[in-house]
Amino acid sequence: MKHDKPVAGTSKKAANLPVTVPDFIRFKTAGTRIVMVTAYDYPSALLADRAGIDCILVGDSVGTTVLGYENTVPVTLDEIIHHARAVRRGVQRALLVADLPFGTYQAEPAEALRSAVRLLKEAGVQAVKVEGGAPMVPTVRRLTESGIPTMAHLGLTPQSVHVFGGHKAQGKDAESAKKMIEDAVAMEQAGAFGIVLETIPAELACSITAAVKIPTIGIGAGVECDGQVQVWHDILGIIPGKPFRHTKRYAELGAQIEQALSAYASEVRGQEFPGREHSL
Ligand code: KIV
Repeated sequence: MKHDKPVAGTSKKAANLPVTVPDFIRFKTAGTRIVMVTAYDYPSALLADRAGIDCILVGDSVGTTVLGYENTVPVTLDEIIHHARAVRRGVQRALLVADLPFGTYQAEPAEALRSAVRLLKEAGVQAVKVEGGAPMVPTVRRLTESGIPTMAHLGLTPQSVHVFGGHKAQGKDAESAKKMIEDAVAMEQAGAFGIVLETIPAELACSITAAVKIPTIGIGAGVECDGQVQVWHDILGIIPGKPFRHTKRYAELGAQIEQALSAYASEVRGQEFPGREHSL
């Protein structure tokens, strides 16, 4: 049976129907919160999809979480494509979005289009995300008019880390807050289907959410956003150290993995593993 009727909110999840770009507006209208998480490989995509996550982002945070870079600036389009292809194989229901990495879209809309087309054709993602406000309007318009759903990203846009002088909260004064609301409206008018709001005051995120009909997806932007996005390694506690303020750890997998590997090492050295049951 072909399911092509609009099904809003949780009934869609119950029926396990694939999440589509138009569903994003339906979710907002119905007041259904959108749940988004990053993933960078096949097993994490499989688990996120099975857990009922609505939208999976192959974020350029792959640079810091998986590849060991200091920030997201060095991430290349080939790296994102490589990870997105693996994620694609694990996803059936969630909407799959990938970041356009730094330096692959800022020069001109035609460059953005070439990069985004590669992500759709070579990795099978359904949408892309770009960072930035008003200067990105022609790019977002070009992408969406070319049939590529595009998500905007405002606030602490990590690709601009050197402009900000670090990963610092944005929109804290009245002038920058006003500009961010204008940027959000401009992104909506350019055709973006959603906006990530990163590390901005909750009150500002609330005003932006009220100012646009497309959903806002917050990370460190309060509970009033239409959805939330978190980084895989942050919420699962994979990398040791103090968690970010905007993150809640739902597991401590890093510690568990370390413990499991120490137990394995100790059993191999003590000749306890493999036991008779593990041998032919
Ligand atoms: O790359 C990423 O993980 C992101 C999220 C923080 C939204 O852009």
